[in-house]
Amino acid sequence: MRILIADDYADLSSRAARIMAGQLYLKPNSVLGLATGSTPLQMYQELVRLHKEVGLDFSEATSFNLDEYLGLAPDDANSYHYYMHQHFFSHINLPQKNIHIPCGRPADIEKECLDYDRLIWQSGGIDIQVLGIGTNAHIGFNEPDIKFEATTHKVKLDEETIEANARFFAAIEEVPRFAISMGMKTIMHAKKVLLLASGENKADAIYNTLYGGITPEVPASILQLHQDVIVLLDAAAASKIRRCLDDNNQNLRS
Ligand code: GLP
Repeated sequence: MRILIADDYADLSSRAARIMAGQLYLKPNSVLGLATGSTPLQMYQELVRLHKEVGLDFSEATSFNLDEYLGLAPDDANSYHYYMHQHFFSHINLPQKNIHIPCGRPADIEKECLDYDRLIWQSGGIDIQVLGIGTNAHIGFNEPDIKFEATTHKVKLDEETIEANARFFAAIEEVPRFAISMGMKTIMHAKKVLLLASGENKADAIYNTLYGGITPEVPASILQLHQDVIVLLDAAAASKIRRCLDDNNQNLRS
């Protein structure tokens, strides 16, 4: 696990974009695992800039998003479909047919989950998975639980998540109570994981993820078992682990 500490959100975003661009230069037909939320927003803006100014090419790439709210139509301004098209897909040359986001209004949710996992598997698996993290250490919409969910599944959102995400909605009552999310097996099978966290309110989640026990109650802690994870933090999100890093360095010196 590599832990990189950026100066601030802008620095984090441009470093994340360079990692994604590097992936595409090395393997133009990469399968990209993508995340939503406020954290990756500026990374997407930077990738759009690289596409427009230096020709970063997405024409052979494929994408799979982590999750979607259940009950929201793709054209709902709060859906992750809308977010991805507004902030990213409509500005780059990733072919529409290669874009995958779980359906928020599936006729048959179990079939939707099975089909989504099958598509990921048929694509050869995810080459690089971008993750944000919830204040409760959720990744995708894998909420703290007594067990890890392996595959794409329906989730009942935590109160903490509903409160955290209410800022995007007109009222907290409008936040969907359920979502569909990629499971931990799919995330853990990604060849590389890029975990992003920005802001003081993520400092505890990051500390628990990296230095606590591996438990479904801290969903992101399972990443301790992944062989290729880059944890890219800004200084505020790293504020709590900084003491651990300093102690480690101290021990190495003594
Ligand atoms: C949301 C998404 C996650 C995201 C997380 C953090 O609920 N389902 O994929 O990583 O919460 O969001 P933000 O980056 O806005 O803090």
